[in-house]
Amino acid sequence: MYLAWLISLIFVLPCHSLFILLPLYLYPGTSASAWSNVTATIAANPTVQWQVIVNPNSGPGTYPPDANYIAALSKLNSYRNVVTLGYVATNYGRIPYATLTSQIDLYARWATYTQANIAVDGVFFDEVNNTAASAVYTYYRRAAAYVTTKIPSDVTPVVFNPGASTPAQLFDYADTVVQFENPFSAYQDGATIGTFQPGFNDQTAIIVHSTPSTADLKSLVRTMVQQGIQAVYFGVDCCYNVFSGQLLSALASAVLAG
Ligand SMILES: *[C@@H]1O[C@H](CO)[C@@H](O)[C@H](O)[C@H]1NC(C)=O
Ligand SMILES: *[C@@H]1O[C@H](CO)[C@@H](O)[C@H](O)[C@H]1NC(C)=O
Repeated sequence: MYLAWLISLIFVLPCHSLFILLPLYLYPGTSASAWSNVTATIAANPTVQWQVIVNPNSGPGTYPPDANYIAALSKLNSYRNVVTLGYVATNYGRIPYATLTSQIDLYARWATYTQANIAVDGVFFDEVNNTAASAVYTYYRRAAAYVTTKIPSDVTPVVFNPGASTPAQLFDYADTVVQFENPFSAYQDGATIGTFQPGFNDQTAIIVHSTPSTADLKSLVRTMVQQGIQAVYFGVDCCYNVFSGQLLSALASAVLAG
């Protein structure tokens, strides 16, 4: 009897929990006002884990970021359930490697800023090339390794965003790979997950934009949890300029419900 209960408990408990990967590219405004729905939802859901991508200027911009950015980022860093990632574009491997390293150096420098905690924990590489080619592998392997040596964090997450099915090799270099970034109208629940590189759901993030208010996030997130997906985001608009408190709360509730 007790054993049966124990076994059922083991199968009911998720082996890992889905986190929310949030593209917060939007400028925070004064008093972090444009980020208020995000920070309110983070504060209201302390047991949900968030990885938040910040992006001052298609990359780190100039050092240090401006006063509004410093205030907003240090507020974000004050939540224990938040990990922050700096945005770095790669243009499918066409951005010179030296440009990547100079941007990573700038993000790393944020950790030396003493008046506020504006450190980022890791890096989100955007526009990742998902062609199975050795030149591609070398470029992204070196970029990811550079992050790990330069960013002084306990975890140093590295995220790649090809936004589509990705060769197995690239999963060796990143903690997380975004294998879907498309509008809600293109998201097909389990059928979409079935198009991903097999065997890597536990390193896979799904980013869905243009989500209608009628979307059944609970059901869609449940499928992701059952399929062992690592991270998720549902955004209301096409381009991550709008952060609806209502949709963020629904997403956090769906993740909590599992
Ligand atoms: C991706 O990499 C391959 C191999 O290096 C290259 O031929 C292709 O042009 C790249 N894709 C884009 C969109 O740049
Ligand atoms: C916060 O979300 C609500 C919808 O829940 C929306 O009406 C409002 O404009 C949002 N505010 C900001 C600052 O994004």
